[in-house]
Parts: sequence; structure tokens; C-alpha cells
Amino acid sequence: MVSWKNLDTLDAYKELLKKEDSVKLSEVLSGESGAKRVADYCVPMAAGLCYNYAAKKVNDAVLEKLAALAKEAQLTEKFRELYNGAVINTGEKRLVLHQLTRGQLGDDVIADGVNKRDFFTGEQKKIAEFAKKVHSGEITNEKGEKFTTVVQIGIGGSDLGPRAIYLALENWAAAHNTLKMQARFISNVDPDDAVGVLRGVDVAHALFIVVSKSGTTLETLTNESFVKDALEKAGLDVSKHMLAVTSETSPMAKNSGYLAAFFMDDYIGGRYSTSSAVGGAVLSLAFGPDIFARFLDGMAAEDKLAKEEDPLKNPAMLDALIGVYERNILGYPLTALLPYSQALSRFPAHLQQADMESNGKSVNRFGEPMNYKTGPVLFGEPGTNGQHSFYQLLHQGTDVIPLQFIGFKESQNEKDVEVKGSTSQTKLNANLAAQIVAFACGKEDENPNKWFDGERPSSVIVGEQLAPESCGALLSHYENKIMFQGFLWNVNSFDQEGVQLGKVLANRVLAHDTDGALKSFSELLGV
Ligand code: F6P
Repeated sequence: MVSWKNLDTLDAYKELLKKEDSVKLSEVLSGESGAKRVADYCVPMAAGLCYNYAAKKVNDAVLEKLAALAKEAQLTEKFRELYNGAVINTGEKRLVLHQLTRGQLGDDVIADGVNKRDFFTGEQKKIAEFAKKVHSGEITNEKGEKFTTVVQIGIGGSDLGPRAIYLALENWAAAHNTLKMQARFISNVDPDDAVGVLRGVDVAHALFIVVSKSGTTLETLTNESFVKDALEKAGLDVSKHMLAVTSETSPMAKNSGYLAAFFMDDYIGGRYSTSSAVGGAVLSLAFGPDIFARFLDGMAAEDKLAKEEDPLKNPAMLDALIGVYERNILGYPLTALLPYSQALSRFPAHLQQADMESNGKSVNRFGEPMNYKTGPVLFGEPGTNGQHSFYQLLHQGTDVIPLQFIGFKESQNEKDVEVKGSTSQTKLNANLAAQIVAFACGKEDENPNKWFDGERPSSVIVGEQLAPESCGALLSHYENKIMFQGFLWNVNSFDQEGVQLGKVLANRVLAHDTDGALKSFSELLGV
């Protein structure tokens, strides 16, 4: 029987709060034992990735206590409840089924009279058939010409994940001759976004996918109109260029003006929807359905690891436990996500939503306030660019900010250049190795301005190459990490009431139903 308890009621947490185990990174990473630690503190992930936590402030004693915490918090049992179809999203009274879009982890899940795995794979099949027809030229524009570009119109979860993954695999697909269509994305209600994207798109040869689970999002519906207007002005038949991805119950599902419509459902949170039709349509059109299937395989393989009870065999659970240790025991308020891979340039932005919209909560899953901190602020940029930007604060600022690095041994393209005895890829990874040690071990100096305290913890996920499977495994890792952290904090990670108030007030401004500060700020902004 699963029981949902606040973190601070758990004995294992109270043990950790005694702070009996302090780890000095400059000591544990030095000499032979340091080298052994780097080799040992590493958990294999799917698709050849591994999660290395040698530069985290944990030792075997801390890890034992974290394992006890995982057990007492029933992380494995809670995950089992989730994938077997329990109503884990209590706030919205919904099942949480995103893992089911890429594999079957447990029992058949029957909801609303249908087998949900069959529903998700059925939509994937429909998308695959449609994409193949577009690629083969069976579905064309009115002149019988092939579509060359796909433009996704959506925001939040209907934009960030698919966009991040498209960018993650665009160069890989080009190198493997499987970049079938270029993809572009319009999200912001700022008209300059749509104008900017449309300027670079030949609309006569473009398919537009309107993606909105609810079918009511102001930004997306506005941008849909914007694009329809552009199509009409170009003398094109709108219905031949527009697709929809939505839930079957949304107003968009009732609109017959789309060339095709693909569905997800209310059991897939927007920020977890990349593996559903939300990511499936654009990624299958851009790369081909086989590549999207390989991405899903990577996710499914990583999901399986999340079932492991032992955190040392379950990288997402271990990452979650160490994150909670850093947030609640060591008191660090932020986390930086730093991929040493240009292809992952939008991955931090996606995980910002996934993590902060999930675990940025002040009440537990029963609506009661808690006496401990929940989700940290997450931010990030690819290395080495970040090094020439905010790393100064990371190295010498007054806050210790735990770091999550990601790196790959190979680049996605064979093209590289050797300058001063090393390739660009080697330089990239040399920088990553250097940063891990610089942050952990620091440097003493007579000049205080040049002094580095060190003791700034980091983990690194390492892979051979960012390819469809490893990309899927990476995304699943973070989705599951966030889920386990939500379980530990006893929050509902699957609703997002905190975004509602602003929407309500914006609608009042648009209806000119304002007074006081709302009226003054509206006037200040020329509304
Ligand atoms: O405003 C928050 C939010 O509801 C996100 O959770 C979601 O990803 C986004 O808006 C877009 O929602 P939809 O897919 O329904 O348009």
C-alpha cells in the first residue's frame, strides 16, 4: 500500500538532516582514490549513456541514507502505481501516462473504455503513414509540389520539447541523410515571432501543425490566425496546409478545416508530451517516422531502468535523490544544466518548463503547506558559450550552484578541424573535463581575486554521440528524475495552477475590465 507523506516526516530524511557526513570534493577527487571514484561513481544508462556523480558531495554513507530515503518514500511503488494507471495527478483528477506513449511498463491501462497503449501507438501509426505520404509526394500542395518545411505552432509543452529535440537531431539527421523536411517553430504571441519565422519560410511548400492539447491557448490560436492570414494572402487553400494535434475533447478536435488531425489525451501533461503526437508529428515529418521510433526506443529503454529499486542501478532515481540532498540538506537554491553540445541548445529551456512547472509548488498533493523547499530554479546554456558568460558567478559567486553537465565523445558530424594539435570536439570535451575539476577542487592563490573555493558539485551524463536513441534516453532520464523528486517532496508534479492567475488577468486587460494597478500598468504598456 502506497502512502503519501511529507519529506520531513520520513526517518531517513531526519537522519540526513543530522549532516553527519561531509564530503570534501578536493579530497575525495585527489590521487589514486580520486581516479577510482570517477570510475566507480557511475551508473549505466540506456543507449550507451552513463550518469557520473563522482563530483557530487556524496559518499557511500550518504548514498546508503539516500537509498533508505528512496525506500521509505516508496519511490518504486509510486512509479508502479503511476504507470499502472492510478490517478496520480490528483489536482486535475487525471492519470499520468506519458511513459505509455513509448512502451508498456506494467499492466494494460484501460481508461475511458480504451486500451491507452493501443490508442497512443495507433496515433503514432497514423502519423507515420501521413509522414510517409508527404515524403513520397503522395500528399502535396495544390500544385502537386512536395512540401519542404514543417512549421509547428504551439507554446509551452506544445513547443519546447519538440523544438529542443528537433534541434538536438537536426545535424545528426543531415549527416545521416534523413533530414526530410526542415522544421520551424512559432510560439510567442509577439507578432514579431510569427513574422520572423514566416519571412524564412516558403509558405506554398510548408505544412503548419497547430499543436494545443486544450485547443484554447490564446497564443497558439492567435498564431494560427496569423498563419492562416499569410496563407490566404498568398492565395493558398488554408485547409491544404494545416494539421492539428490536440486532445479528442478539445474545441480544435471539432474543427474540420485541417488536412489531418492527430490526437493525444488529457493523461499526457503538456511538458511530458514530446513522445506523444505533439512531438511525433513534427519529428516524424522532419526526420522520418523510423527516426522518431528510434527516439522512442531510447526513451522506453531508459524508462525501464527507472523501475529498478536500487538507486545505484536507477540513474533517474539517483539523480533525483542527490538533487533533493542538495536542495534540502545542503540548501542550494538553483541548478544549472550545462550541455557540452550545441545540438542541445534548447534542452535547458525545455527542462526549465518540465522541472519548474512540475515541482515549483508550495503545497503538497493534499493542498497542505510544507516546511521544506521544493523545486530549485533551473537555468542553463550550452558549453563552452556559458563559460564566457555566467560561469564567473558559478566559480566565484556567493551561492553554490549544483551543475548538471552533459557531454558526448563524438560530434554529430564527421567534419572537424585540427588546430594546434587538437580537433574542435577534443577542445570542447577538454573544457568540460577542466570545468568539472575546477568547480570541484578550486585553486588557492595569494590574490583573493584569483582564489577559487572549489567544492562546487557537478554530475555529468556522458555518451558516445547524440543520436535518436541517446537523445530519447536523455529526455526520459530528466522526466523520470522530476517525477521522483515530486514523489519525494510529496507534491503533485502534474498540474500547473500557478500559470492560471496571469492568464485570467490578461483576459481582463484585453476585455478592458481593469482598475487600480492593473489599469495603470495596462495604460503604461499602451493596452
Ligand atoms: O500555460 C501553461 C500550459 O498549460 C502548459 O502547461 C502547456 O504546455 C501550455 O500551456 C500549452 O498548452 P496547450 O497545449 O493546451 O496549448
